[in-house]
Amino acid sequence: MIELKKNVAFTGPQGPVVLVIMDGMGIGKNPASDFVKQANTPNLDWLHENALYTKLRAHGVAVGLPDDGDMGNSEVGHNAIGCGRIFEQGAALIGKAIASGAMYADGSVWHELITHVHDQASTLHFIGLLSDGNVHSNINHLESMLRKAKEQGVKRARIHALIDGRDVPPTSAFEYVERFETFLDALNADGTVDYCVASGGGRMNITMDRYDANWDMVKRGWATHVKAEGRTFASMQEAVTTFRAEMPGILDQDLPAFVIERDGVAVGPIVDGDSVILFNFRGDRALEITKAFEADELKEFDRGGKPDVMYAGMMQYDGDLGVPARYLVTPPAIDRTMSEYLSNAGVKQLAISETQKYGHMTYFFNGNNSGKFATETWQEIPSDVCPFEDAPRMKADEITAAVVKAIEGGEYQFIRLNFPNGDMVGHTGRVDAVKLAVEAVDEGVGKIMAALKQTNGIMVCSADHGNADDMCELDKKTGALVLDEQGNYKPKTAHSLNPVPGIVYDPSGLANARLADVPNAGIANLAATCITLLGFEPPEDYAASLVAVG
Ligand code: 3PG
Ligand code: CO
Repeated sequence: MIELKKNVAFTGPQGPVVLVIMDGMGIGKNPASDFVKQANTPNLDWLHENALYTKLRAHGVAVGLPDDGDMGNSEVGHNAIGCGRIFEQGAALIGKAIASGAMYADGSVWHELITHVHDQASTLHFIGLLSDGNVHSNINHLESMLRKAKEQGVKRARIHALIDGRDVPPTSAFEYVERFETFLDALNADGTVDYCVASGGGRMNITMDRYDANWDMVKRGWATHVKAEGRTFASMQEAVTTFRAEMPGILDQDLPAFVIERDGVAVGPIVDGDSVILFNFRGDRALEITKAFEADELKEFDRGGKPDVMYAGMMQYDGDLGVPARYLVTPPAIDRTMSEYLSNAGVKQLAISETQKYGHMTYFFNGNNSGKFATETWQEIPSDVCPFEDAPRMKADEITAAVVKAIEGGEYQFIRLNFPNGDMVGHTGRVDAVKLAVEAVDEGVGKIMAALKQTNGIMVCSADHGNADDMCELDKKTGALVLDEQGNYKPKTAHSLNPVPGIVYDPSGLANARLADVPNAGIANLAATCITLLGFEPPEDYAASLVAVG
């Protein structure tokens, strides 16, 4: 059994250690684009001046992404925070498996899927997010697989394309649509194959729900991709153009579903004998549609018959559940998480968030495993199903109340929570709502601080990546706002590349905590920090604690 050693110089505070993740609230570069800075945040301001405060890297190689041009995201962020080390993540692993050819090797799942299509004289389908956001998917992976399929003699491929605008600029669809349609034209040019887009829609409208928040999205996705039911168009380009004209101001992520037809017939329903690849590699928004394809019985919606297909995910999405049964690339082996160590040490732990980020604090935090360790309790506050720009406080008050109750109750020595507001509202691009979102988080932090002062506990407060801190497009060289022809800023919905705060608040002072000299500190250093503040020595191979104690 993996074990922690007690620290003789400091055996832990009287009250709990509380880890607050302010999702998507980093430290901006330009105040005009930084709506964390623009919001009224007396508690965070006080902490900046009076608590231990440092900046942590939360993007690129510091969280296991291929390079420092990659923004952080909640999966890799919570993985790093929860396991205290940096693992090479999905995006990097797939890139390598493609480059080395290992993904396509004889005996691979890819090989099985292609053999199935040949044996059945059927169609190879791809479902996934059509962008290079590198958070859930990468269009380069899709293009590589289509090229390989052609090389291996697959005659018919159908692509079910989810439009992004959330990990990439909010109305950038045509960049990917045009690139992809040109790519397909080139593949089809010699007349030996028939590869085309069959259906699609905005990623926040169909298919990519997470954490059982809104199964209607998956139901719509199923009808669109599998049954080919819905409004029809001649091409993806025509669908997007038509929707934009009909709904001025609509963001790509919210676009309605579309089905592509030729001569009055849908080009690509998914039927018995086909092979299907979900080319998204990140699990949270892949698990529900995977369940719809794999489960014998599904209670969440009526599938109206499930085609008998060979289904595979780009990666394994849940290590504990072993889902999906077939996957193309093996995920990073994230082991010895902080939750496991603390559980073995008998430390009672509580994880809390609302639905939208619940799995971030449980499943991502525990290394993409949905199983619970012995001393863990997980509490989910149901999220509303609504546009979050209309309700920017989300469930911050309810999360705060639950945390304060747990602090006062004295049952848990370690409490971890996620406030989704900065990120979920940040993704809408609506800056006034973002300010309110940030203010709700600040109020929550203030109440948690007060409860910790009463109980002699300690708060560690940080974020998994930036978002609300960078709401406008900035010039890459000068950092100035990019303005359109009318002189307006261009809203940004994706995460930022900015660092995030690393704050330690110890109102009783009993830990005698002081910032340690940690070069290139990142959010992976938070696990050892929490373990240290709980009165243990962190595992030797964990990224160092940000503080020294005792
Ligand atoms: C999403 O899934 O909402 C975005 O692609 C990424 O956001 P998250 O990493 O903050 O969940
Ligand atoms: Co986000």
